[in-house]
Amino acid sequence: MDVFTAIKERRSCRKFLPDAVSEEAIEKILEAAIWAPSPANNQPWEFVVIANQDIKKKIHAESVECKKALYEKSGWAWVDKYQAGFLLEAPVIIAIIGDPAKTGLHKFLAGTETTYQHGCAAAIQNMLLVAHAQGLGSLWFTLFDRGTMKKTLGIDPSKEPLALVCLGKAADSPIQTPRKNVKEKTRHIL
Ligand SMILES: Cc1cc2nc3c(=O)[nH]c(=O)nc-3n(C[C@H](O)[C@H](O)[C@H](O)COP(=O)(O)O)c2cc1C
Repeated sequence: MDVFTAIKERRSCRKFLPDAVSEEAIEKILEAAIWAPSPANNQPWEFVVIANQDIKKKIHAESVECKKALYEKSGWAWVDKYQAGFLLEAPVIIAIIGDPAKTGLHKFLAGTETTYQHGCAAAIQNMLLVAHAQGLGSLWFTLFDRGTMKKTLGIDPSKEPLALVCLGKAADSPIQTPRKNVKEKTRHIL
């Protein structure tokens, strides 16, 4: 599959079949992640591959708590309706951990404190695209409390769990989310 097709076809998957994801598929997804660009090639990422059902249950329960707290604060209707059952269904979840200490540049250039997150985001997008090219559904998930997630996954307090990527065979056709026209989003300086 060519990269543009993968970009256009990939959609977030929130319903997974229980079919196992092969080791080869997981390795390829992780390999794609580490070839992402990062500031000064500092590679600010680490990965935790989660297949343990008890840990998935814990993550799910914590996410439900996080959702409740978010709804109480925001009152947003979509938060109230949000179902996170995919955290239990997805055969594999990969946590992406970012290292703020890898940024460095922010000591000298204001506004660059978050560039380690940008590198991790590029790695995540590579993961989603390679998952899609291998016939897998995926979801970039962030509705969790980072402090709690650090404890659940045994992450060094100095590092940040930035996202969970849920992976597995899609159980239904993902929603076809629209995009605004590229012209509305682009300004040319000639
Ligand atoms: C930084 C980031 C965080 C996201 N967090 C969540 C999340 O917590 N839960 C969820 O269901 N989707 C999450 N998504 C997926 C978006 O909702 C989804 O990408 C968007 O609606 C566009 O749909 P598409 O991925 O199908 O094109 C996240 C996406 C990004 C890039």
